[in-house]
Amino acid sequence: MSPTWWRRGAVYQVYPRSFADANGDGTGDLAGIRSRLPYLEALGVDAIWISPWYPSPLNDGGYDVADYRDIDPRFGTLADAEELIADAHARGLRIIIDLVPNHTSSEHRWFRAALAAEAGSRERGRYVFKDGKGPDGSQPPTNWTSVFGGPAWHRVDDGQWYLHLFDPTQPDLNWENEEVRSEFDDVLRFWLDLGVDGFRVDVAHALVKDQSFPDLETTGRLLGNSRQSNHPHWDRDGVHEIIRRWRKVLDASERDVMMVAEAWVHPDRLPLYLRPDEYHQSFNFDFLETPWELAPARAAIDRAIKAAVDVGSTPTWTVSNHDVMRHATRYGLPGDTNWRTWPLTGPHDDLDPVAGLRRARAAALLLMALPGSVYLYQGEELGLPEVWDLPPDVLDDPVWENSDHEQKGRDGCRVPIPWTPDGPSLGFGTGDPWLPQPPGFGALSVASQTGVDGSTLEMYRTALGVRRSYLDDDESLEWEELGPDVLAFRRGSGVVCVVNFGIEPAALPAGDVLVTSAELSEGRLPTDAAAWVL
Ligand code: NOJ
Repeated sequence: MSPTWWRRGAVYQVYPRSFADANGDGTGDLAGIRSRLPYLEALGVDAIWISPWYPSPLNDGGYDVADYRDIDPRFGTLADAEELIADAHARGLRIIIDLVPNHTSSEHRWFRAALAAEAGSRERGRYVFKDGKGPDGSQPPTNWTSVFGGPAWHRVDDGQWYLHLFDPTQPDLNWENEEVRSEFDDVLRFWLDLGVDGFRVDVAHALVKDQSFPDLETTGRLLGNSRQSNHPHWDRDGVHEIIRRWRKVLDASERDVMMVAEAWVHPDRLPLYLRPDEYHQSFNFDFLETPWELAPARAAIDRAIKAAVDVGSTPTWTVSNHDVMRHATRYGLPGDTNWRTWPLTGPHDDLDPVAGLRRARAAALLLMALPGSVYLYQGEELGLPEVWDLPPDVLDDPVWENSDHEQKGRDGCRVPIPWTPDGPSLGFGTGDPWLPQPPGFGALSVASQTGVDGSTLEMYRTALGVRRSYLDDDESLEWEELGPDVLAFRRGSGVVCVVNFGIEPAALPAGDVLVTSAELSEGRLPTDAAAWVL
């Protein structure tokens, strides 16, 4: 019998603003997602993770939630959400939604009330308000910095400061406060009652802060900080008590539901989040950060499997999401480039988009063949590149403003999906899309690739189909040694996944070739390509 769906699912991330726009206002919506469910069913995924759909000023693309129990009117209504869930279930697709517990939007009724109330009030106690340092309190309470740039504290009119680890319009909640804790139990129940099958929990390694509010010795950004031990606001031990509480709420639903953590923590600390009474799964960012090289890739796979298996979970695999440079571009950067600091201005003659796409396709086959779950980001099945040359005047990511225009941010992976080769917004909708689609997107559209032998889309479809038939049932992996530049492993069904990291074409084991990421040359697997053989 197959293990429960979330242990081995293929989960497709929908970024609602950019997926499909049914009402022609240039922004994607729930009716748009509903209209594309047949596409997702035919693609062969098991579940859809929908990035935040709540009412929001969209200062951080919806990760600034103004009401946790409703849908943003630009996306639709609660009734639309119910219909979407019902339609998805009828097609055998599960729905995972985003939970954003570290911070609310500054438009949330709680924060408005906090601003209107005085220091020390119950209203302020739901957030992290503090007096500043210095004789007149004009210095921030600590030297903590925001992930999006600048200080992590903002001063309000009466002189107090509030904490925002992200944008100033995303005030951090005070998770020491029981009212905050019980509110989120209730939010979970609300959506479980509406029928969702799981939650992707945003910045799951945040929430709890050191109540002595010490200064940081070194300030840094999201990842750098989270790798320090006993950090004052990332990955604190106290977070696990909260996770256990949520798990009880999920377990009480007596449905096959799950929660997956977005926890950017040191790989050694990740298993703590996956203990049997905590998260079902966690994203594995270790592989995403790994360069396209055999030894680091194999080591990252081993680490992820061990970390998950030791605590009874299954590993997850992902190479793209709405926060990172699309991997078809990332894998085309010169070898020693740090994609996080690569300037998103051009021209970039050093970028090799052909190699990038070749490797992206190979990486997709590699990840889809591994035991555990794979999380795919909308558009990767089309081989979409990062749109790194978006003009500054269309940029929307708060990173752009908060970094004083030093970093363009994440808009380049959020450009609306091309569904057709031409027409207004390439089939995304009828209006001007909220971010412009570049020339070349039409040729990558769903319609352009459907039924085309060897297209990226058809490769994903075939692979997801084979995955369901042959790779779902067991969680085993056995490495095979097929040569110094070849990564290969066998799954319980006998399917062997082979990836050629070398320059010379590599021989494949005997058997039927089920899917390849590139055309074979005289039966051999070319460079930067993958194949599944049975
Ligand atoms: C992680 C989300 O994926 C990202 O998009 C968001 O900006 C931050 N968390 C803050 O919520």
